[in-house]
Amino acid sequence: MDYEKHFADELNRLREEGNYRVFADLERHKGAFPSATNRTGGGAREVTIWCSNDYLGMGQHPAVLSAMHDALDKSGAGAGGTRNISGTTHNHVLLERELADLHGKEDALLFTSGYVSNWAALGTLASKIPDCVVLSDALNHASMIEGIRHSRAKTLIWKHNDLADLESKLASLPAGQPKLIAFESVYSMDGDIAPIAEICDLADRYGAMTYLDEVHAVGLYGPRGGGIAEREGLMDRLTVIEGTLGKAFGVVGGYIAASAQLCDFVRSFASGFIFTTALPPAVAAGAAASVRHLKQSGEERDLQKKRVAQVRARLDSIGIPHELNPSHIIPVMVGDPVKCKYISDVLLDEYSIYIQPINYPTVPKGTERLRITPSPVHSEKDIDRLVAALGDLWAQCQLARLPMAAQ
Ligand SMILES: Cc1ncc(COP(=O)(O)O)c(C=O)c1O
Repeated sequence: MDYEKHFADELNRLREEGNYRVFADLERHKGAFPSATNRTGGGAREVTIWCSNDYLGMGQHPAVLSAMHDALDKSGAGAGGTRNISGTTHNHVLLERELADLHGKEDALLFTSGYVSNWAALGTLASKIPDCVVLSDALNHASMIEGIRHSRAKTLIWKHNDLADLESKLASLPAGQPKLIAFESVYSMDGDIAPIAEICDLADRYGAMTYLDEVHAVGLYGPRGGGIAEREGLMDRLTVIEGTLGKAFGVVGGYIAASAQLCDFVRSFASGFIFTTALPPAVAAGAAASVRHLKQSGEERDLQKKRVAQVRARLDSIGIPHELNPSHIIPVMVGDPVKCKYISDVLLDEYSIYIQPINYPTVPKGTERLRITPSPVHSEKDIDRLVAALGDLWAQCQLARLPMAAQ
């Protein structure tokens, strides 16, 4: 086989479909987020990032940076091994305690990313509980799907956030069969939120465990940043809460929080936990500082909410359509892959605004969008510039506006 030709053909196919991904080369400036230098073939330019998942700007918070510097100076760079073979540092132990406390659970278990935590924990639970059936929301993240697939457990996919469909699938299973309902709280592309309480009610009624991915909610919701389940007083009803340290907490890593036995079970059987080098101690120290800070400070969350409301109101004032959802994610709907990519390119080239286009297969065809994530580090001036640029491009691309535009 001509391997190189195969690679080239497949990449060309992606390009023809408009699905070839191009990364923006960015250098964020500590203390000046959301500003960054964007390097291109032709040179460098200063841009404002409007699509970061460092939702609260914690990646530049002094408490986080100082904890990371201290740990680096004290302990050096890497963990030096897997958790089993000399890689468990005191920083890991402290972070797991911090996370267990955040979610009101007996224990927590760290992984190298949120992706790995879903893959490893779901894969292990579903494969190591005899006869387990997984009931998976249709819009679950790729990491959950891969973990469930890897387990080879029987899987029933229920319609997104559809309680009736979930119930009919639960009811179709024998009462005594082990069941695991896997779902997310805030869905990252539409920004909608799952009916967690009702899902827990069904889980109780049908004897199922619940696995909730709070990746787009931890740090952001609840009085201590414990996520939607904390905000709604539901943490104790969930079997497993999974989160990331790489988005609102501004660092990197993933985790599950659950009973001590369940964490020990995953710790003892998950290859994605056992056979990989632990997070660097400085990363664990920075993440712990971030979690600790957001437990006692609502300032970042409050300002983020204000910025989200301001962006939504300004978009409404010029009739630019965006999904009305109850979260911090603002999907500005373009509905055309070519225009979506074009708007993103022109925003960067002519307005120094970086928003990655979201096209198929990340979202269904016809729902192409710009996913905007306002944060406390965006200023009102940044919002003025963003909305003016989108107004220009909406006119240029002859995209439909909502009725408000005529007022
Ligand atoms: C819902 C969801 N779960 C898990 C992940 C993976 O988290 P991480 O980026 O920490 O690997 C993502 C990442 O975007 C996600 O959107």
